[in-house]
Amino acid sequence: MSHPASTEQAERLRIHRLTAAAGDDFAADVRRGLTSPRKFLLPKYFYDALGSRLFDAICLVPEYYPTRAEASIFESYAAEIVEKVRGGARRVTLFELGSGSAAKTRRLIAALLATQPRLTYVPVDISTAALEESANALLGDYEGLSVAAYAADYDTALPRLSENFEEGALALVLFLGSNVGNFDRGEARDFLRRVRAALRPGDRLLLGADLKKDAPTLEAAYDDPVGVTAAFNLNLLARINRELGADFRLRDFRHVALYNEAEGRVEMHLESTRAQTVRLAALDLEVRFGAGERVHTENSYKYSLDELSALAAETGFKREHIWLDPAGRFSSNLFVAS
Ligand code: TRP
Repeated sequence: MSHPASTEQAERLRIHRLTAAAGDDFAADVRRGLTSPRKFLLPKYFYDALGSRLFDAICLVPEYYPTRAEASIFESYAAEIVEKVRGGARRVTLFELGSGSAAKTRRLIAALLATQPRLTYVPVDISTAALEESANALLGDYEGLSVAAYAADYDTALPRLSENFEEGALALVLFLGSNVGNFDRGEARDFLRRVRAALRPGDRLLLGADLKKDAPTLEAAYDDPVGVTAAFNLNLLARINRELGADFRLRDFRHVALYNEAEGRVEMHLESTRAQTVRLAALDLEVRFGAGERVHTENSYKYSLDELSALAAETGFKREHIWLDPAGRFSSNLFVAS
């Protein structure tokens, strides 16, 4: 049964909208990326309303195993994860960076609410639409839950997380899925140091990390035969058409995903299938593409278990526990702030 959001429910929700200037950044970032000698577009722009839905669809694609692998870890171990996270503490405040639809988070929320009557959940996401939808759904399902959401990019939100620290409660930050994999290795270190700086000693980080494995499995995960992943990547050009008055012909570009074994990363590109010129009216810009020229859109770095414990040590954390899915493809790592 679905109820209209009640006033009682509305009182348990706060949304901080910190993405106001994003429009200007989008134009400037697209200009910078498409006029660079090696063209690129920034992955944070994948997640407009359609892109967020397409990403949810990717998570249902059989070849894209990370979501289900991580979900299966939470299904099997949610209670154990919560017990290890809590340590001796009485209460936990839950944060999540890049929460999206928060589907996997539900298991952890339920496990936390089984051991404390009330829980504050602080999701951060670049997509306001995804935040509003997920927050309202969660509030309808969990009476003991309050949500303080930040529609923001990570660096805007991080310094504000402490606004939600609660007396006598430790913070658990979730950084799930392939999120950390979308930073290069140096950026991942810098970012986790900034996360650490936003926390107190003893606070926790639950870090999802996809593991290194054979190229065919990885390439299938990022280029499914139904074409959902291709649609997700191409939607970035469609977004530029919609928001910057460009005339990208999507049929003249194709999605390319390649595993670079030396770097341990899957590289995503949009390849121009012929020589062409694209006009971006809002930027007063024309961009030429050669046949076969690629626009880099994202990297998805894969980790070994040793690299993950080194990452903890280098960023001010100690890795306290690792959980793996039954096939050993994906890891959930509990880091404790030193
Ligand atoms: N961040 C996700 C990942 O690295 C995003 C993703 C899945 C993605 N498929 C993609 C990004 C295809 C670009 C193209 O797993």
